[in-house]
Amino acid sequence: MSVRRLAEASVQPASFAFNKAMTAQAKTWINKYPKGREQSAVIPLLMLAQEQDGWVTKAAIEHVADMLGMPYIRALEVATFYTQFQLKPVGTRAHIQVCGTTPCMLRGSEELMDVCRSKIHHDQFHTNEAGTLSWEEVECLGACVNAPMVMIFKDTYEDLTPERLAEIIDQFEAGKGDQVKTGPQTGRVFSAPLTGFTSLTDEKGVLKSTREKEAKATSKAAKAAAAAPAAAAPNVAAAPDKADAPAKPSLDDKNRPAGIAKPAAVDDLKLISGVGPKIEGTLHELGIFTFAQVASWKKAEREWVDGYLSFHGRIERDDWVKQAKALAKGGEAEYIRVFGKKPV
Ligand code: FES
Repeated sequence: MSVRRLAEASVQPASFAFNKAMTAQAKTWINKYPKGREQSAVIPLLMLAQEQDGWVTKAAIEHVADMLGMPYIRALEVATFYTQFQLKPVGTRAHIQVCGTTPCMLRGSEELMDVCRSKIHHDQFHTNEAGTLSWEEVECLGACVNAPMVMIFKDTYEDLTPERLAEIIDQFEAGKGDQVKTGPQTGRVFSAPLTGFTSLTDEKGVLKSTREKEAKATSKAAKAAAAAPAAAAPNVAAAPDKADAPAKPSLDDKNRPAGIAKPAAVDDLKLISGVGPKIEGTLHELGIFTFAQVASWKKAEREWVDGYLSFHGRIERDDWVKQAKALAKGGEAEYIRVFGKKPV
C-alpha cells in the first residue's frame, strides 16, 4: 500500500465550492441518510468533489467536512485511505490505476506497469509532459478473476496484455477513451470460462425444459382448481367460493417480477411481515432473493405475486414494498426507524 499524503501546498487551491449541479447532487446524497447521520455521505461527496476538479484538494476535504458537520480529521482519514481518491493532480485524459495485488501480479501486472513507465512517466503519480496521462499501482480492485487489470476513472479494463494496454493508453491520449471497450479485452463475457462452457452448454435447451416444466405444473394446478368445485359438490355453500377463486397467474405472464440467479448474499425475506419460511421458499423458486427486488415491484407485479401466492391483497395490506425498502436501505435499524418496531 502506498503512502497517501495530500499534495504539497504549492499546488493546493485556496478554496473549494461545489458548482450548481454538484451542489444538487450533494444534497441528494445527504438526504439519503437519516437526520444526525449526514456524515455517512462523506464518500459520495468526496467523489463529487473529485469529479468536479479531477482530484481531491485539501480545501475540498474541509468543505465536505463542513457540509457534513464533521471534524476535518475524519474526512481526511477517508480521503487518504481509499485509493479511489486522487490526492494530487492526475492526467486530464486518463489516470491509470494498475492492480498489483497477487493474482494480477502473477498474471503480468509488472509488465503492465512497464508499459505505463515507458508511455507515461517512469514514476507513478507523475503526469506525462503534456499533463494528460498519469498512473499508479493500487491494491486489488475486485476483478481478480479477469487478472491482470487496470481501472481508469470508473471503468475497469481486464484480461490485459502489455500490447492491449498500450493501445488503450493511446486511445485515451487521443481523446477517444469513451470508445474503448470496458471489461474483459479478450472477448469473453464477464468472467465466463476462457475456453468455453463445461456445463450448461445448451442454455437455450435448459431454459426451454425449465419453461416446459413450469407450464406443465401450472396447467396441472389449473386443472385441479377446475375439478375442485365438482368434487366439493355436496357442500353447496363452499362450491361458489372455489369456483370464484381467481386462477393462479401464469409463470409466463408479463407481470411476473424478474427473478435473478441466487446471489452469494441472500436477504432474510422472512423479516418482511407476512413472509414465513414456506413463502420465502416460494419466492426463492421465483428468483426473488433480495429486499431490493421486492422494493422495486410495481403494482402489476405485486398483483401477480399476490395472485400466485393466493394472498387476496395481503401484499398490499402488509405493505411489503415499504417494508422491503426500509430493510434494503438500512436493515433492522431502518425498519425500526420507519415502523417504530422490530421486524417480525
Ligand atoms: S488482484 Fe487484481 S483485481 Fe484483485
